[in-house]
Amino acid sequence: MKVKNTDNINNSLRYLQQKKAVFDENKKDKFIIEGLGGKKKLNGKIAVAGAKNAALPALSASILFRNGFCVSNIPNIKDIDSMNILLEKLGAIVKKQAEKKYHIVTDEIKSVALDIEISKKMRGSIILTGVLLARFGKVSFPHPGGCIIGARPIDAFLNSFQKMGAKVQNRNGKYVVSVGKNKKLKGAKIFFNKITVTGTETLMLAGILAKGRTVIENAALEPEIKHLADFLNSCGAKIRGAGTSTIEIIGGNLLSAGNRAYKIPPDRIEAGSFLILGALSADNLEITDCDPKHMRALINILKDSGVPIIEEKNKIIIKDNGKIKNKHLKCIDIKTHEYPGFPTDLQSLMAIYLTQISGESLLFETIFEGRLNYTDDLINMGANIIMIDTHRIMIKGPTQLKGRELIGNDLRAEFAFFIATIVAKGKSVINNVRYIDRGYERIEERLSGIGVNIQRIKG
Ligand code: EPU
Repeated sequence: MKVKNTDNINNSLRYLQQKKAVFDENKKDKFIIEGLGGKKKLNGKIAVAGAKNAALPALSASILFRNGFCVSNIPNIKDIDSMNILLEKLGAIVKKQAEKKYHIVTDEIKSVALDIEISKKMRGSIILTGVLLARFGKVSFPHPGGCIIGARPIDAFLNSFQKMGAKVQNRNGKYVVSVGKNKKLKGAKIFFNKITVTGTETLMLAGILAKGRTVIENAALEPEIKHLADFLNSCGAKIRGAGTSTIEIIGGNLLSAGNRAYKIPPDRIEAGSFLILGALSADNLEITDCDPKHMRALINILKDSGVPIIEEKNKIIIKDNGKIKNKHLKCIDIKTHEYPGFPTDLQSLMAIYLTQISGESLLFETIFEGRLNYTDDLINMGANIIMIDTHRIMIKGPTQLKGRELIGNDLRAEFAFFIATIVAKGKSVINNVRYIDRGYERIEERLSGIGVNIQRIKG
């Protein structure tokens, strides 16, 4: 399709408006949702956007390229705007070429200091540290923030930078990491004591411009990592083993994309979010533009529980689900695990599922120590949940949830509240919505499209 000049202007205007919204922190919207009272009335098709957690490392990787780099299928969410502002503040030129397509040139980077305010609010900002250090020999940044789901330390990053020959200092709460004048980051053998997704991405990207060989052991296996590595290899990187627990990178020069554009893969967490919603509240639902093979843990569990799911190549279909009463679905225990296990990002959403099926289910969050914060709100809605400790809850179903006023603590818990309030009887208000726009694009429009009675009230 030919991009017209007016399209470019409209895109740029929209982009500026979105960027302004990132700074409008005081304005928080609320959502009013009319629940279905347990009925399965949703119907239709919902398309999955590009993956947030693939787009953030991809945009960070722009620092590794000479003469620019093009990324398509970027989701229209606030975290992307924040990442683009971070890049621009360093001196990168970020151009929105078309809807969901950006061209980024990093040849004129002037600063290696990450913007403090934005980085403090976004965990994904840390991925930029490795590439800046590898290309310019220095980077400074605050402790990255993000969703309130646990302590989220960065020891694995700092230890690895030190192994690669960098010096780490903490100056007034800001990390300053540097390799020294006229020196380069050196390849090293890195072993992660705990599997870390952004840690694997950061060090894999840093290794591309480091001197010599970097080996990452106990690496994360997320498909987004392999997807990005394959593209980077086509642009001159030498990465082997991405997608397995040992990744080897032979360092070299800046990469060159030529005419290649990197297409962000579908968001398997967003697809999973729609699937859990559909399992509870839809009669017939098609979730399109997704990749079921990367959602094995969730699909298997829901199928075992009795949800009528059909998988196609890029589609998941829930068919004639209205015939099945939720209370007749089989109860299941959930234990989160690094990929390919059950994703922690879908844990809170699954808790809602467990409140609707018969029996007692144990939900065990193994990755983050603060990711069960939503429990009290669900109890307040009528759920029967016993908190065992900060990692485990026991849920007894089925219970009729009732509409309530809620406030989310993190992106996924906020979406879990959307599911809970859609399932519930009566009207709910989700107040002070801070997270949903960071990870799910145009959520009310897309949910309305399948029959959810949802209204956004601007803050
Ligand atoms: N950890 C350490 N030290 C470190 C790094 C991590 O102890 O230096 C620990 C963490 O405290 C946690 C575990 O290792 O207990 C795993 O954390 P990980 O580093 O893998 O998480 P992350 O990279 O910060 C990414 C996603 C999260 C997702 C997790 C786990 C991005 C930007 N974020 O976070 O996504 O929950 O992996 O899969 O990729 C979300 O999208 O809502 C989200 C929170």
